[in-house]
Amino acid sequence: MSLEHFNTSGNHYDELIENEPILKSVCKVIDSWNKPVYLIGGYVRDFILQRPTKDIDIVVLGDGIKLAKAVSDSLHQSSFSVFKNYGTAMIKLNDIEVQFVGARKESYSRNSRNPIVSPGSLKEDQNRRDFTINALAISLNGNSKGSFVDPFNGVKDLKNGIIKTPLNPTETFSDDPLRMLRAIRFTSQLGFIISDETFEGITKNAERINIVAQERITDELNKIIMSDYPSLGFKLLEKTNLLTHIFPEFQALKGVDTINGKKHKDNFYHTLEVLENILEKSTSNLWLRWAVLLHDIAKPATKRFDHTQGWTFHGHDDKGAKMVPKIFKRMKLPLDDNMRYVQKLVLLHLRPISLTNDQITDSALRRLLFEAGDDLEDLMCLCQSDITSKNIEKKQRYLKRFEVVQKKLKEVEERDKIKNWQPPISGKEIMDTLNLSPGKEVGQIKEGIKNAILDGVIKNDTKEARDFMLKLAKSKGIL
Ligand code: CTP
Repeated sequence: MSLEHFNTSGNHYDELIENEPILKSVCKVIDSWNKPVYLIGGYVRDFILQRPTKDIDIVVLGDGIKLAKAVSDSLHQSSFSVFKNYGTAMIKLNDIEVQFVGARKESYSRNSRNPIVSPGSLKEDQNRRDFTINALAISLNGNSKGSFVDPFNGVKDLKNGIIKTPLNPTETFSDDPLRMLRAIRFTSQLGFIISDETFEGITKNAERINIVAQERITDELNKIIMSDYPSLGFKLLEKTNLLTHIFPEFQALKGVDTINGKKHKDNFYHTLEVLENILEKSTSNLWLRWAVLLHDIAKPATKRFDHTQGWTFHGHDDKGAKMVPKIFKRMKLPLDDNMRYVQKLVLLHLRPISLTNDQITDSALRRLLFEAGDDLEDLMCLCQSDITSKNIEKKQRYLKRFEVVQKKLKEVEERDKIKNWQPPISGKEIMDTLNLSPGKEVGQIKEGIKNAILDGVIKNDTKEARDFMLKLAKSKGIL
């Protein structure tokens, strides 16, 4: 049934349990349970929206842990864990997680700083949830089995695409300030809008995001970045003042300065445009999206005005690459190969464009192939998306030149196989032949050989490289 025609007065129980085999098994036990049990939250929302989901939340008017144990006993090969402090229990079967919780009076945040829970009614439980669309419940047993409990018109908000808190926004957000980010995340995932009152509530309380653990913030930010409408999400983060707290470097990209009538572009909106462009090309690479977000991150720090050149951002590629580890560390993002990939793309993002003049040498192409390695395609994707000129003719000209570079890179790679190339002489061979101990000189000779091959001075051949090594050693007085 389409969302438009979804009717909460109808009974959707059969449809619900046919939809998910695990839920069907879980409901067999719930059927004969002597206390009211409800399906609640995200699963109900996504069932109505017909979105796939793997988390099932069940609320019980009574002992949720006891019911969870009974369900787990009936399911073979499921894993069962209890979180006593929170009064919750979880069953995991394959990749589905079923969470059981006793209805409670206080905020439903799983990461609440105050885990003391006191039992409440279903209405009280729904009151303390984040949004009307996440407070929907469906009864799973008794006479009311299959009926909806929708005290805040959540289905209407789902139909109208509205994110709204069930209580006064300040109250809902003070229970868990992360909800302000969740509001924006749902907006960018679902293409919804935030109600005026809730929006104002976020703006007013934005500073309170600072009390939330960084891991939770980053998790939401990554979800915004991976959503269908990430640039909408970033515009809202900016408008609500959240961005300045959670990602000040990105906030700093916003704004346009004018000197002597000369303006530069607004790098905040430019970056978001690049992000939109890349969505058309790549769907699921979180780190490529991060590279887009950070490609111009050092522009504010390198911005200068020169009376002949106008606005310049010299070295923003290099400085930007240096900022990447600092930002990743603060965001508690992994400091691993993914971070190095982002760093590499930020560092190299101007290179393909700089090759689009008439003097593209094979040596410059080989260097780019060597430095980008397997990430060349992603780099090219970023650079192509970076062409956001409003002047159609200029844009076409750039894209055309860009195609030429791409073709030449392909030709050079086919001929010289540089992408995964390693120089033919190792550091060990240099040390053994020249009788050197590990140190600066070994590195210089290795670099010299590599450059000679990339520049076409010698062929990519062991014999030529050995001869060159000896010549270089002599010139340095080593031999
Ligand atoms: N919830 C809440 N406040 C939070 C987190 C969660 O009120 N800070 C409630 C909402 O009712 C939500 C439910 O707990 O629907 C389950 O939370 P969670 O699994 O984190 O989110 P979902 O809404 O299911 O969405 P998603 O799975 O996309 O994160």
